[in-house]
Amino acid sequence: MTSQQQPSHASVSQQSSRQTIIAGNWKMFGTAESTRAFAEEMVRDPRLAHASGNGVGVVICPPTPLLHVLRPFCGTFFELGGQDCHQNVNGAFTGDVSAGMLVDAGCRYVIVGHSERRRYHHESDDVVAQKTRAALAAGLTPIVCVGETLEERQAEQTADVVLRQLDAVLQAVSPDQQFVLAYEPVWAIGTGLAASVEQAGEVHQILRKFYRQRVSNDITILYGGSVNATNAKELLAHSDIDGALVGGASLESRSFLAIVEATGV
Ligand code: PGA
Repeated sequence: MTSQQQPSHASVSQQSSRQTIIAGNWKMFGTAESTRAFAEEMVRDPRLAHASGNGVGVVICPPTPLLHVLRPFCGTFFELGGQDCHQNVNGAFTGDVSAGMLVDAGCRYVIVGHSERRRYHHESDDVVAQKTRAALAAGLTPIVCVGETLEERQAEQTADVVLRQLDAVLQAVSPDQQFVLAYEPVWAIGTGLAASVEQAGEVHQILRKFYRQRVSNDITILYGGSVNATNAKELLAHSDIDGALVGGASLESRSFLAIVEATGV
């Protein structure tokens, strides 16, 4: 989707229903030194200023201890996001961070329900829904991840799975609370095997239709799973793919900026 079809970047409270967003999920990678170098390369590159000046939301989600390194660079050309938040405001939850803490650290976004959280931290649809609600209550825009495993796809359960995951979130939030959805087929994450445009587009359409019926509004839906500088342009050209959630290719400014450029803005 091109910027001509998109509303411009706006604050969280007035966020329009669809926006082009390129978000980088660094997972558990990076050092203070590599992060500083990344930020310096990013802000120097005219492609970033051009894209963000033309309505593309660029979001970097580093590991929590690296947020402070990116903070002085963010706000103008890119925004910060957390990779997860706890569903509670505070409490005895060793190792966790709350949505409010992410706001304090300069974040405007947070990824919730990533398949690695669902898998390694046993997060249920209900927990993901509670986290989404907590993020919204703190003033963050949640990037809610949904996606099927290879077994589920092969069993033709893709639509059932992603709609069940979305439905849990919709039951926990009110219709005026806007979030971003990310379709991330588990089999495409970190495998180098991205979904085809047809595969991703089909699921985006199913999700959008369901969301529109339930909320009578539209929603930004990103695709994630082995997005790189080579396949981004084709994926982003699909009218139902509003942007990308990028893992491996977001770790280097060069490949990440090429994906930002692939928005065609
Ligand atoms: P990938 O990860 O781009 O490395 O496949 C995407 C994600 O996990 O969000």
